[in-house]
Amino acid sequence: MRPPEDCKRCALCHGRANVVMPDGDPDSPIAFVGEAPGAKEDAAGRPFVGSSGKVLTKLLEEEGLERSKVFITNTVKCRPPGNREPTQEEMDACLPCLESELENRKVVVTLGRSAAKDLLRRPIVMKDEVNRPQKITIRGKEIVLIPAYHPAASFYNRTVKESIRESIRSARTYLEGP
Ligand code: URA
Repeated sequence: MRPPEDCKRCALCHGRANVVMPDGDPDSPIAFVGEAPGAKEDAAGRPFVGSSGKVLTKLLEEEGLERSKVFITNTVKCRPPGNREPTQEEMDACLPCLESELENRKVVVTLGRSAAKDLLRRPIVMKDEVNRPQKITIRGKEIVLIPAYHPAASFYNRTVKESIRESIRSARTYLEGP
């Protein structure tokens, strides 16, 4: 299920310029799920093209994964005003789209608290969950979920990049074996 360009399933439709659809390889077994589009993503209509995207793209490449070979999406496809976190209601409105995007993946790396909360369906304390793989079931299919920090958190804390690197490595071992 794909949101139409004029999607009005939630109030985020009022402030957006574009519905930001996924990027990368639609058939990739690995998906990265961010929180929500920011200003650059809203303008470009592509996820992770701003400063967080630069961090993510570089880490992926350093770990041997080309950005174009993985699937990249967000919990919600429209930019929340002022870059606030999406509400539960907004994430719920977009969940059928997210589930259809993820249902055939092997591994999903959630970037930040919102994405982990959305897919694990419970409150998340990041420091307790990061890099602890869990299993989720989407439409009857089991998927490994690896909670990772959001790339934007690396702007304030230098250890975060290494933690995200570890998440990417861990995701690769689920795909390729140790
Ligand atoms: N942050 C996100 O969570 N997603 C984007 O697409 C860009 C920044």
